[in-house]
Amino acid sequence: MNKQFPTEKFQSLQTPFYYYDMAILERTLETVTGEANKYGYHIHYAVKANANSRILSTICKSGLGADCVSGGEIQAALNAGFPAEKIVFAGVGKADWEINLGLDNNIFCFNVESIPELEIINELAVAKGKIAHVALRINPEVDAHTHHHITTGTKENKFGINIAQISNVMDKIAMLPSVKLIGIHFHIGSQITEIEPFERLSEKAAELEQSLFLHGIYLEYINFGGGLGIDYEHPDSNPIPDFNAWFEIFHKHFPTRPGQQVHFEPGRSIVGQCGSLISKVLYIKEGAFKKFIILDAGFTDLLRPAFYGAYHKIENLSSCEMIDVYDVVGPVCESSDIFSKAVELNKTRRGDYIALRSAGAYGEIMAMQYNCRKLPKATFSDTI
Ligand code: LLP
Repeated sequence: MNKQFPTEKFQSLQTPFYYYDMAILERTLETVTGEANKYGYHIHYAVKANANSRILSTICKSGLGADCVSGGEIQAALNAGFPAEKIVFAGVGKADWEINLGLDNNIFCFNVESIPELEIINELAVAKGKIAHVALRINPEVDAHTHHHITTGTKENKFGINIAQISNVMDKIAMLPSVKLIGIHFHIGSQITEIEPFERLSEKAAELEQSLFLHGIYLEYINFGGGLGIDYEHPDSNPIPDFNAWFEIFHKHFPTRPGQQVHFEPGRSIVGQCGSLISKVLYIKEGAFKKFIILDAGFTDLLRPAFYGAYHKIENLSSCEMIDVYDVVGPVCESSDIFSKAVELNKTRRGDYIALRSAGAYGEIMAMQYNCRKLPKATFSDTI
């Protein structure tokens, strides 16, 4: 049983739903802005982690910018009030309409991933008589030591421009009249819990910046992406990631030149811990040798366990009876619809509320309608 959840107020709500603890989000935002301000760092929230409009407007009010990877995300950020001059746009496959949306709104920067993309941005900017600000997304070949589906900075990934190709890209940029290079961008992966990959990234970035500087290229904008991990095991005792330690690594290993701005794009570390998926137990099913808790939430509502084998802490919010062991599964007609196996939970009955914790990032936004299921709704601690 976890007293912080107002289960008595859940009665009137249709499960499953996402429950957002807005006090945790506010505290996280205060911490990240306070720590970033110490070094004059700029933060763009990675909208892909959670684009719920209430969450976006709360983040926007705290003064953060937005990191977008699609036209839909740019539109969601603009609708939530993010100023265009704080929006960056990344992604390996930007469609023409998406680039045009960015140009029409004069977004801060396109984080560019290839020469063909640069050519199209230039062509579209020429047609509008505009100059597009671009940063090169560099593949720094740093292994993030995280799940292979969410590592992005190694040689075999589709993301970024290889360091060996940079001089070709620079030659190309010199020929494009409507593209202005302002900086470089990196993102090595997500849910990174070690310091070492970020140290390697900041050192590699410093080397690259130095060599470009020696070739007469001054970069005013350096963007280190996101990736800071959260504590999925201990959401209550460790709800706010160590932003101070994260920024300190870059401060130590990436000395800036006058006028140079350092930016970050955290997603998970901002919204991960404020959200839980709340579900009700449909049935307790006795299998041949184990007990199944069958929830009314499935991977359609929270994909991460089925998709990445990700761990989310599971809690029974209704029972404080003796512990039992269960496999916790969803109702979707796929054997992969399992949240966790052999979980120790308070004795569980039909109708109990179950929380899947740390689901604020890549939860609601990755929900789908497979099996013609309804998308989960969202509820907020301050308006419930
Ligand atoms: N910037 C770029 C360019 C990115 O690709 C990402 C995440 C971020 C920033 C934010 O990274 P974060 O701070 O959230 O780690 N769906 C997966 C995570 C995919 C992350 C994709 N890129 C999951 O559920 O774990």
